[in-house]
Amino acid sequence: MYFVNWQREISVQEWNGQKVVVKRNKPTKEFHEFLIIYTYSLISVLLANPSAPPTLSEIAKNEGREMRERLSKIGISTPALISISDDSLVEEYVEGGDLYRALVLGGAASLAFEAGRLTGRLHKAGYAFVDNKAQNYLVRGDSVIRTDLGFLQKSSSQYAKSMDIGSFLASVMDLGRYAEIERAFYEGYLSESGSKFNCLSLIVRNVLSAGFSSDSKVMLRNMLLYSISLLDI
Ligand SMILES: Nc1ncnc2c1ncn2[C@@H]1O[C@H](COP(=O)(O)OP(=O)(O)OP(=O)(O)O)[C@@H](O)[C@H]1O
Ligand SMILES: [Mg+2]
Repeated sequence: MYFVNWQREISVQEWNGQKVVVKRNKPTKEFHEFLIIYTYSLISVLLANPSAPPTLSEIAKNEGREMRERLSKIGISTPALISISDDSLVEEYVEGGDLYRALVLGGAASLAFEAGRLTGRLHKAGYAFVDNKAQNYLVRGDSVIRTDLGFLQKSSSQYAKSMDIGSFLASVMDLGRYAEIERAFYEGYLSESGSKFNCLSLIVRNVLSAGFSSDSKVMLRNMLLYSISLLDI
């Protein structure tokens, strides 16, 4: 199996009789990371919430063992790391695939509740994923675990939290069952963090949606279902 991805080439291989995922940086990775960092800062300034973006060396360190152990202590599982170097990473293959695909295939909305719970748990611990797309969660049975940790940041700012909520919602905006997924994610988040979503989350969601959605008709319809009940007002 082989996925062509934006930042990395992802392939599934056999290693000592175990199925593993190999993530190899593309030569353009640093340029793409610069673009994400730039967009992150630009949106934060436009929204009058200036925030420091993660640096390139932080991005590389975030995928390592230390961060995975820290997340495990917070109660967030990640695939077992097999090896890591400057240009590639090998981790355990998780059979359920990513959460976006699972939801497209009719997976239970409770999986989105689990993603909301993990997001709330991370925020309570004073961190944010920043890139919190549903494609960055992997499904293991009834629970979800996190991969693609590059942009994780130690921050309790409203903007960093809004990036997590907004990027998750934007990544599922093109699903016909968006309202159900949004509600489940929201309830999972609320159950763990005790907070509702702030207005900034919906602004970030709407800004990112255009870039993330593969079906703009469904995305626009969902955007108009403005979820005022989820807001902390
Ligand atoms: N451990 C794993 N087990 C199973 N599938 C995986 C695993 N890691 C990644 N994948 C699949 O590969 C996809 C891309 O992985 P990942 O997000 O780590 O790469 P990326 O290049 O950083 O992606 P992007 O820049 O698009 O976020 C995931 O959405 C998922 O479908
Ligand atoms: Mg990813």
